[in-house]
Formats: sequence, C-alpha cells, structure tokens
Amino acid sequence: MTSTYDMPVAGDEPIWDIFLSQHFFPALSVADEIGLFPALADGPLETDALAAAIEVDARALSIHLGLLAALGLATRREGKWGDTAVSRAYLVPDSPFYWGALINGGEPSQLHRNLLAALRPGTRDWTEGRPVGNWESGQLEIEQARHIAAFMHAHSLPAAIAAARSGVFEGVKSLMDVGAGSGCFAIAAARANPGLRATIMELPAMCEAARPYIEEGEVADRVTAQAVDMFREPWPEGHDALFFSNIWHDWNEETCGELAAKAHAALAPGGRIILHEQLMNDTSTGPLTTASFSMLMLLGTRGKQYSLAELRAILEPAGFSEVGAVHSRGYYSLVTGRKA
Ligand SMILES: C[S@@+](CC[C@H](N)C(=O)[O-])C[C@H]1O[C@@H](n2cnc3c(N)ncnc32)[C@H](O)[C@@H]1O
Repeated sequence: MTSTYDMPVAGDEPIWDIFLSQHFFPALSVADEIGLFPALADGPLETDALAAAIEVDARALSIHLGLLAALGLATRREGKWGDTAVSRAYLVPDSPFYWGALINGGEPSQLHRNLLAALRPGTRDWTEGRPVGNWESGQLEIEQARHIAAFMHAHSLPAAIAAARSGVFEGVKSLMDVGAGSGCFAIAAARANPGLRATIMELPAMCEAARPYIEEGEVADRVTAQAVDMFREPWPEGHDALFFSNIWHDWNEETCGELAAKAHAALAPGGRIILHEQLMNDTSTGPLTTASFSMLMLLGTRGKQYSLAELRAILEPAGFSEVGAVHSRGYYSLVTGRKA
C-alpha cells in the first residue's frame, strides 16, 4: 500500500495538460473578437504597440499572446509579436478560409467573458468571489481555507515530495514556508530531511486548516504553524531558508519585489530564498501547459507565470546573488538565490 508521502509512480503532466486545456478555445475566440489576428498580420509589433492598436491592457495581452504562441497561432521574435501561416490562412477575416463564423458563432462561454474583461479592465470587478480578494484583505474564513488547502494539496503533493528529495533543502536546519497552504512542502521536506525544522507562515485560518495535514504527515514535533499576514505583519527572522511555492505567481512584479525585500530582510546571513514555480521559457511563449497556467493566474489573481529572467530581475535588485534554477518534477522548477 502506498503511503501519502511516497512518490506516485506516474507523472501528473497529463492531468495538468487536460485541466489547463480549458483555456485553449477561449484564447482563440477572444483573439478573434478583439481583432488580434489582423493586427498581428499587420505587425510585427511589441506588446505595448499591439495593445494600443487594438485598445486592450498590455499585461493581459502579453499573457494571452504567450498562450496563443504556444498554440502555434502567434510568434515572438526579438520582442515583437507576429502571425503564423495558420493564423494568416484561417483567422484573418478577409481570408477565403476564415473560421470566424464557427469560432464566434454561438453564445460566448464564461471563460470567454472573463478573458475579455481581463483584457478590457474596468468592465467588471474581476476579483469578486475569488480567493485573491480575501488574500489581498488578509481575511480568510476557516471553511474557505479548508477548501483552498484541499485543492492546493491535490495539485501540490507530488511536487512537494519531489522538491523534498531534490537536494534543495540539504543543510537547511530552519525552513520557513511562506503561504504554505496545506503545508505539504514543509511536511515533505521535514520527512525527507530529519535535521530540518519548518515553520508554516500563513493567514490564521490556513494555519488551522493545515493542522490535520501536519498530523497526518507525522511531523508535528518539527513542523509548526505561525499566523502572519505577509503583507501587514513583521516576518519571523533568522530562518536559513525561505520557501515560496505558487506564491509569486499570484502577484504582479511590484508585489513580488515587496516579498523579495521582506524575505531578504528576514533571512539569516547567507540564507537562501527558494521559489517553486512553473517557469515560462525565455520569450514567454511556452511551454503550452505553463502558458495556460499563466492564463489561469490572469483570470483569478494579480499574477502570471514568470520566466527565470523575470524572477532574476526581481531577486537581484532585492540583494540576492547566485540566482539560478533547476528542474524539479513535471512542469515545476526550483529557483534559488542567496542573501550575501
Ligand atoms: C496559491 S496558494 C499556494 C499554497 C502552497 N504554497 C502550494 O504551493 O500548494 C497561496 C497561499 O498564499 C496564502 N496567502 C495569501 N495571502 C497571504 C498573506 N497575506 N499572508 C500569508 N499567506 C497568504 C494563501 O492562504 C494560500 O494558502
């Protein structure tokens, strides 16, 4: 019988691929509605110029284009976006092979409407009813925390077991897992590294929701939860590693810069920051499932999936050196930096 913290035999990539295929068609139908493909055919253009030409939000457009490029419907060369042979033949209204009548012939789906609203901000309060609204206010009720812990745990547990066995926690005596959710990364790290103690730093309700997971992981003597609002309260100091999984992807560059500065101040000298994220490639045009994960972040949070270069551009100004990334498991990587 497999125990909870044994690595599953099969990789979880097919599940990620199927789950995130939900954005493929809305990415196409919205691009058709906003006239993106004719604008690309007139290109190539940088993101800001393209966004101005079709009057949409540039940040949202860059995430949307990343997914379209991963789907083979756009290209990016030297920073400029262009069309492809497929988009030119089938997605431009004056082509004899235009698919418009099929693509936008029916009632738009909820995801279509959400993406349109993200591209044209001000048309709705897009954080309404979403966890990010509670995270921004620091207010999370226990029932919501239990629900979030359960779904985060489902997608994070295999990645947590892999990270724990990757060697990234070697030599770490005192780990703080910031925004830990169910705590599965801290629990797996403690189980795989007997000399490691971990603190889960979370909103109060999530500390409560994490308790059964800590007990089930049989590490309650070395993993404790500490209620800290990472935006409003002082961070516990002196840990030799600060770990963030799927945290930076919830926030924009400015807020990530704030988190980087707080992490740097709280770490012990020589300590390390470790970010566990699905990384976009250097041109932010794939991999496909990560580009669609970025779309999920666009629609539900303030963030996106970052590339290593984008994370380095946040970490180095905050004082981190030796910034680098290693692949962990599936679509995930571990990005590390050291406090000088
Ligand atoms: C996307 S989940 C990541 C959970 C976990 N690290 C994982 O990868 O499975 C984001 C987490 O950040 C926590 N969070 C959000 N705002 C926070 C705040 N102001 N202070 C502390 N934690 C916060 C949430 O409660 C949530 O558990």
